[in-house]
Amino acid sequence: MTYGTTPSPRHGFNLDLGDDALNTRLNTGLEAVEELLITELNRGASFLTDKVTHLAKAGGKRFRPMMALLCSEFGPNPGAENIIRGAAVTEMVHLATLYHDDVMDEAERRRGVESANTRWTNTVAILAGDILFAQASRQMALMDLDTVAHFADTFSELVTGQMRETVGADGTGATDPVEHYLKVIEEKTGVLISSAAYLGARHAGASDEVVARCARIGDAVGMIFQIVDDIIDIFSDPEQSGKTPGTDLREGVFTLPVLYALQEDSPAGEELRGLLTGPLTNDDDVNRALELLGQARGRERALETVRGYVDDVERELDALPDGPAREALRTMTRLTVERVG
Ligand code: IPE
Ligand code: IPE
Ligand code: MG
Ligand code: MG
Repeated sequence: MTYGTTPSPRHGFNLDLGDDALNTRLNTGLEAVEELLITELNRGASFLTDKVTHLAKAGGKRFRPMMALLCSEFGPNPGAENIIRGAAVTEMVHLATLYHDDVMDEAERRRGVESANTRWTNTVAILAGDILFAQASRQMALMDLDTVAHFADTFSELVTGQMRETVGADGTGATDPVEHYLKVIEEKTGVLISSAAYLGARHAGASDEVVARCARIGDAVGMIFQIVDDIIDIFSDPEQSGKTPGTDLREGVFTLPVLYALQEDSPAGEELRGLLTGPLTNDDDVNRALELLGQARGRERALETVRGYVDDVERELDALPDGPAREALRTMTRLTVERVG
């Protein structure tokens, strides 16, 4: 079984996590999340609807809701209503950041369709993202204060990550570009996946220790997820990823495989150091950079880094109670890595 290899819409759960009863519970949970999402995204004036539902309707893996639901299995009350809310909140916030991210990255495609900024305008995309934050806040208000406080931190880290990426290593005073990159991705991606894990476990009534462990797992899975995504940005075909390859390069955002390739003492490394001095503005340069990156060892080294995070996840998982949810998290982690082949 695989997931996320096609950008087609998914309105249900089709991932086999190795246990029939768990698959059914997750499927039911994801359907409830979907229902809540659709209801909430359709709120407000009618001229908002097509914009605000654009990306949700286009597809997406619902990775964060899945993480929340899986981690809820470690608590005594995995059916609690707030788990569904928490799962939906993480997807709404994720969606909002995608709208905004595509404006910042000038991305043309997302989830296999035109990005909202391309379909409409930057202004529309920004405002649609803002509405999603409002809707997420409404759900959080129905949960509890801890959730609101937790999300304030999540949100602030997420935005800090996007800002850290924008101002770059130089702008933050970082001396090591790889360390800078790792910090950025923990903030912009790790924390939200970690939040999903935290909210799922906590609202199911899991112990503080288990909640913290789930949060750490979410964080490490997020690191894996983003590094893999960054590898895909360079090395996959757009049919598979639903995005345009080389988007990060065009924006002058140098991700882990690129940073490693730039360190390389080889003809490809040498030429890349000459080519990648800022955003790439023409297609020939992007294509040449992609070609050189194919010759360098950046991809391989980035995958070694991924394996380090997989070990972290494994260590945390081994300390969680044995059972189908633990094995399902193992499977999810493995599939996250396998997206990149
Ligand atoms: C995309 O996230 C943005 C990143 C953090 C890499 P996903 O890969 O989860 O996107 P969807 O939700 O499946 O579209
Ligand atoms: C995604 O960042 C992270 C957030 C949306 C916060 P990227 O810019 O790396 O992700 P993609 O490749 O556009 O999905
Ligand atoms: Mg982007
Ligand atoms: Mg971005």
